[in-house]
Amino acid sequence: MSDPRVYRIAAIPGDGIGKEVVPAAAEVLDAVASAYGFGLRWDTVPWGCEYYLEHGAMMPADGIKTLRSYDAIFLGAVGHPDVPDHVSLWGLLIPIRRGFRQAVNVRPSRVFDAGLSPLAGVDPSVDFVVIRENNEGEYSTIGGRIYDGTDQDMAIQAAVFTRKGVERVVRYAFDLARTRRGRLASATKSNGIVHTMPFWDQIVEEIAEQYPDVERTRYHADALAALLVLDPRRFDVIVASNLLGDILTDLGSAVTGSIGLGPSANLNIDGQYPSMFEPIHGSAPDIAGRGVANPLGQIWAGAMMLDHLGERAAAAAVVDCVEWSLGSTGTRTADVGGSAGTAQVVESILARLKSRPPE
Ligand code: NAI
Ligand code: MG
Repeated sequence: MSDPRVYRIAAIPGDGIGKEVVPAAAEVLDAVASAYGFGLRWDTVPWGCEYYLEHGAMMPADGIKTLRSYDAIFLGAVGHPDVPDHVSLWGLLIPIRRGFRQAVNVRPSRVFDAGLSPLAGVDPSVDFVVIRENNEGEYSTIGGRIYDGTDQDMAIQAAVFTRKGVERVVRYAFDLARTRRGRLASATKSNGIVHTMPFWDQIVEEIAEQYPDVERTRYHADALAALLVLDPRRFDVIVASNLLGDILTDLGSAVTGSIGLGPSANLNIDGQYPSMFEPIHGSAPDIAGRGVANPLGQIWAGAMMLDHLGERAAAAAVVDCVEWSLGSTGTRTADVGGSAGTAQVVESILARLKSRPPE
């Protein structure tokens, strides 16, 4: 018999509820992994805001080098009331996303329980994925401010769209649409932004020629935002630039329900560096330390990690656990209408896995 597959995972629980939901999700992932004949070897690092308060840095100077050898990074959340958010973001998350060229941000949204959506009468079949460009675009540091403190003061910020960067994310989105319902919506704003956005549109058109089987529609991002609320069912895969994608991904998770449910994958698609998987929520200092955080967003992020590692069937089994938890026989935390704690949700999932092992 050959050796079982073992993946090396760097866990960064971070701060607040990250320290609760990461170990909770790891238990579920370990159980599913053993059912599917592979292993996860976890190394946990204590980086984050508490580390910052003690050491003056969010991670050690060689942090990126340390992470480089792992198969994937599993992140909880960073953020602490005593540390400014730009310090925690630029000291840990952005260096990882940029240092490891995690150029594609994938955020799925599904209605598991129509009662959780703020949209009245939302169709339970709503299921779409927003693909956001994660490394360039409007989030550049090119520009500056002059004449501060005078009435002539001004600010300029240049957006950077490279052919390589746009092609990479658009191609990923078309490939994904092909594995789903075959529909791609491209978010643009080429009516108002006259250089970068027509360039984006042009590249989408060029690549579309190689995907005649995918139905492609171009939407101005403002109209797309309205349609995500009015008719979310029409969307399958949505591809967008860094800024437009940031807004649409939050909107996407909002229309489907609790912030505690959504996952996010930061992908290095050429496989040169590890990718990073995290829930969309933050460290939730208001509920941290009480054992009541919803672990499902972190668990679903774990499913995306298994999928990325090539463990497709195990990934689907984990998503199934999330779906089951939100079904009529599942166990829920308070944010999704239940009264269970984090540990009880995990226990119920583990018990179900035991009684009905995945095929
Ligand atoms: P948040 O997502 O931490 O919390 C927003 C609200 O949702 C809170 O009321 C919280 O209790 C609730 N909530 C979030 N996750 C939950 C879960 N799993 N189960 C139950 N309830 C949940 O966003 P907020 O309050 O704006 O940010 C708090 C800190 O987190 C800040 O320092 C912020 O910078 C950081 N943050 C970090 C992120 C990351 O690490 N990627 C992302 C978003 C925020
Ligand atoms: Mg955002």
